[in-house]
Amino acid sequence: MKKLLIIDGPNLNLLGKRQPHIYGTDNTQTMLHTVRQAVPAEQYSIDYFQSNHEGTIIDRIHAAADDHETAGIILNAGAYTHTSLAIADAIAAIDVPVVEVHISNVHARSEQIRHTSLIAPVCRGTITGFGIDSYVLAAIALMRPEKQARR
Ligand code: DQA
Repeated sequence: MKKLLIIDGPNLNLLGKRQPHIYGTDNTQTMLHTVRQAVPAEQYSIDYFQSNHEGTIIDRIHAAADDHETAGIILNAGAYTHTSLAIADAIAAIDVPVVEVHISNVHARSEQIRHTSLIAPVCRGTITGFGIDSYVLAAIALMRPEKQARR
């Protein structure tokens, strides 16, 4: 059995309640249920981790690389996307593929800083703007490694 690991960063524990006009009303439980429905349960289990702390997210990324079972990481790094060279370095340090996801379309947001991602260059790809379906689309991509573009 392979694992896909979803990591949510800061403030995503408030999903469903936080700025619903931007992030929608679906909460984390709904997101996990929707992802699990899209993934063949006999092939992949879905692990979930959320932290509001940069170093804790980095520790979890390292641990996923060490467990030799994690086939891919779906990472919504929240605001750390735009600021964290340390998380980018952690992703670059491991062989496990990471897909960057965002619920909102960060490129359509009014704040200029959200248009920059420090983690994008070290991720396999980015999915942004599809609500909780961004996580589903990332899971599909990670289950089809043969379809991924070469770098
Ligand atoms: C987010 C977008 C980020 O800019 C923001 O800081 C978040 C959530 C998203 O999922 O749309 O916390 O990653």
